[in-house]
Amino acid sequence: YRTLRVALLGAGAVGSQVADLLLKHGDELADRAGAKLELAGIAVRNLDSKRDADLPRELFTTDAETLIVGSDIVIELMGGIEPARTQVLHAIASGADVVTANKALLATHGSEVFEAADQVGAEVYYEAAAAGAIPIIRPLRDSLAGDRVVRIMGIVNGTTNYILDRMDTEGADFADVLAQAQALGYAEADPTADVEGYDAAQKAAILASLAFHTTVPLDAVHREGITSVDAAMIESARHAGYVIKLLAVCERLTAADGSESISVRVYPALVDRSHPLASVHGANNAVFVQAEAAGDLMFYGAGAGGVQTASAVLGDVVSAARRHIAGGVGVGESTRANLPAVPIGHVITRY
Ligand code: NDP
Ligand code: HSE
Repeated sequence: YRTLRVALLGAGAVGSQVADLLLKHGDELADRAGAKLELAGIAVRNLDSKRDADLPRELFTTDAETLIVGSDIVIELMGGIEPARTQVLHAIASGADVVTANKALLATHGSEVFEAADQVGAEVYYEAAAAGAIPIIRPLRDSLAGDRVVRIMGIVNGTTNYILDRMDTEGADFADVLAQAQALGYAEADPTADVEGYDAAQKAAILASLAFHTTVPLDAVHREGITSVDAAMIESARHAGYVIKLLAVCERLTAADGSESISVRVYPALVDRSHPLASVHGANNAVFVQAEAAGDLMFYGAGAGGVQTASAVLGDVVSAARRHIAGGVGVGESTRANLPAVPIGHVITRY
């Protein structure tokens, strides 16, 4: 096999598992990718941080910039905007394909990143950027490219689902369960992103952009988190036959004159206990997609967690390797229409 050089940026909850699986399953991945995937190095902030996996110390560096040069595939798992944005652009300019799970980066600087990649014929893979291990990016971008998606409705943040579920089923305390979600590697580095709905809004913007072939800016997404949800509200919802879930809803709206726009919103909603979304427990996610021809589709699975998310990241790495071996034939950006995104007001809806 030809050897491809892989650079990993970040070895936290997700990155450490990606490195571990790459090293453990190297031969099997080489057979699937058609190329040997050589982990050239792992860039981190602090060489002495405790890792979730036992990784060779000689692979670690604090010099991401140098590690990137000469790499065929760069996996960005640092999170946040900077220095992730700068390093991703550096990787693209250096001729690498990029794999990232960074929804904060893509929801705010996605156009810049994709345009930079288009200019040099590089590809950016981001299956792990929405709903963790669940395959949802490719289905929306590729499998449903021949259909017209009308609505996406989902639970897309594992941390908040874990918190609301434990509050509902065990009467657990918000702060205690959040601390557990952090310890389990579900939460963002700053968990405000989870509990205030920013993370779900970033994912909703990414999913809506793919589903409706447009660019939904983050500031067009209506966002509410779960910090105002207390035990009394959960109890009242239960008595009335509902469970409270943080939902992301992305809809194609058609006006009386036939013109179309997009509504994208994230908010704690009352979900009927007989609805399938009510049965999504723990840090799992579920995404319902309604399309004109396909009808209703449901995607379900682990929405957060290091090893679970590593599955989606490594799937992207194999895709990137196959593209390299095929001579750089890209998956291609879908044609983008120009549907306007409209923020709408506070909605608590029964589904
Ligand atoms: P962590 O905070 O656990 O890990 C971040 C890693 O990046 C650490 O190894 C850290 O180094 C390194 N890092 C941070 N800043 C720098 C820097 N300036 N220079 C070099 N290295 C740096 O994050 P996660 O693994 O949880 O998440 C990674 C990405 O994956 C994020 O974009 C997140 O949104 C996304 N994601 C996470 C999921 C999850 O369940 N955790 C699920 C889906 C996506 P050090 O260890 O030395 O501090
Ligand atoms: N913090 C995120 C969540 C990680 O809880 O869903 C997965 O994107």
